[in-house]
Order: sequence, then C-alpha cells, then structure tokens
Amino acid sequence: MQEFVRRNIKVMVVDAPEEVGRQTARLTAEVIKTHDSPTLGMCTGGTAVPIYRELIGRWSERQFSFQSVTTFNLDEYYPVHPKEPFSYQHFMRDELFRHVDIPTAHVHFPNALTHDPEEACGIYEDLIRKRGGMDLILLGIGSNAHIGFNEPGTPRDSRTRRVTLDESTRQANARFFAALEEVPQHALTMGIATIMDARKVVLSAYGANKVEAIENTLTKDPSAEVPASFLQEHPDCTFVLDREAAASVLE
Ligand code: PGA
Repeated sequence: MQEFVRRNIKVMVVDAPEEVGRQTARLTAEVIKTHDSPTLGMCTGGTAVPIYRELIGRWSERQFSFQSVTTFNLDEYYPVHPKEPFSYQHFMRDELFRHVDIPTAHVHFPNALTHDPEEACGIYEDLIRKRGGMDLILLGIGSNAHIGFNEPGTPRDSRTRRVTLDESTRQANARFFAALEEVPQHALTMGIATIMDARKVVLSAYGANKVEAIENTLTKDPSAEVPASFLQEHPDCTFVLDREAAASVLE
C-alpha cells in the first residue's frame, strides 16, 4: 500500500477494488468500535458493494455490533418508492442492512415519496443535527467528480435538497436500470456543507473511469466545478483508491 498526502487529503493507494473495500471497511470499523453510538453517512453505488461485503464479514466475526449504529444515507432518487429495486433504500437493505443487526429505526433516508421535497430535506438536516452530526461519512465519486448527487456547479454552502441529475450521471447509473429512460431525472442529496460537517470523511474509488475525477480533485484549487475538491478543506479526509483510479496522482 502506498500512502501520501495531497492538498491536505490523506491518500491510500491499494492494488485492487477488493482491497479498497477492505481498507474502507477497516476505517469504518474503527469508528464503530471507538464510539458509543456512532452515526454514519452511507454511500451507494458500485463502489459501496465491496465495502459493505467486507463490513458484513467483520460483523459476522463479531468484531463489532451495529446495534448502536445510526445511519443517514447520502442520497436517494426522487421520486421513488423504497421498494423499487433501483431505489437506494433497496440497495442498502440488500447490500448491508438485512445481513447485520442494525435496528430499523436507526436507518435514515431522505423522504423520496414526499410532495414537499424542500420540507423533507429540511427535516433530514434537522435529524442529522439532532443526532449530533455524523462521526464518519462514506463517499464514492462520480466520473464528473460529484459527491452524493452534488453535480459540478454545486456551491460549498449547499445543504440537503432536490437536484437534477447530470446527463453523464444518468448514463453512468443506467447500468442499474433496464434502460436509460428509466433512470430518474431528480434526486434528494445531502449538500456539500452537510458532507463537510461530518467529523471524518472517507472517499473510495476504483477503476480507470475515475482517474480524471481523482486527478482534478487532488490537483486543482477547490471549486464548484469539481465538487469533490471542497474536501481539501476538510480537517480529516482520507481517499482510498486502487492503482487505476490513482494513476495520475501516484508519486
Ligand atoms: P459508483 O458511483 O460507485 O457506482 O461508481 C459513485 C458515485 O457516483 O458517487
């Protein structure tokens, strides 16, 4: 494993996607084990699969319990029914929650069935705040450097809100749907400021299609054009990358 710091971000480079999952799960387990009632921000997507597989493995070895863990998912399509197979609630149930001992009442998503997204997003922000904020947030990164569904152009002070997905994001996510037309146009997502409030951030990425996003994030000044670049201003941010995603920033 190679480790270095780039623009205030701790970077860990490993050989393969499974190792990205292993290292991210290790960092997550550390937070769970060292907090009495940890609050975690959760990501979805292809990157999350090896992370959650590894977390389930560690849980089944009784390294820790999810009984006192509270989760807030980063985003959800809008509008969407939680039972829809493509919904992020469905993803989280399938990939993590149904395999471990997390109490259902501890699991939170923005309300993607609401007719008043503004109100629902305000409620979500309040809930995170009342819970004392997130101890750790897990992130993936889009090939356009989005985090959550904060697409290029998103300001640093953004909070949870309804957003329109970039065409490139819809195309990237079409693999989870029968056809591109079925990918929703909108989502509810935590904002950049919501993410930056988490006490620790771990962003994971693998594969050559992330190389440009990682390069821009770790070499350019923070700007709304590269949403992940705002993470340079976070006091405790780690990137876990495989060699392919890190190719242009390796020392
Ligand atoms: P992916 O998505 O893990 O499916 O590549 C990451 C993201 O878009 O944030």
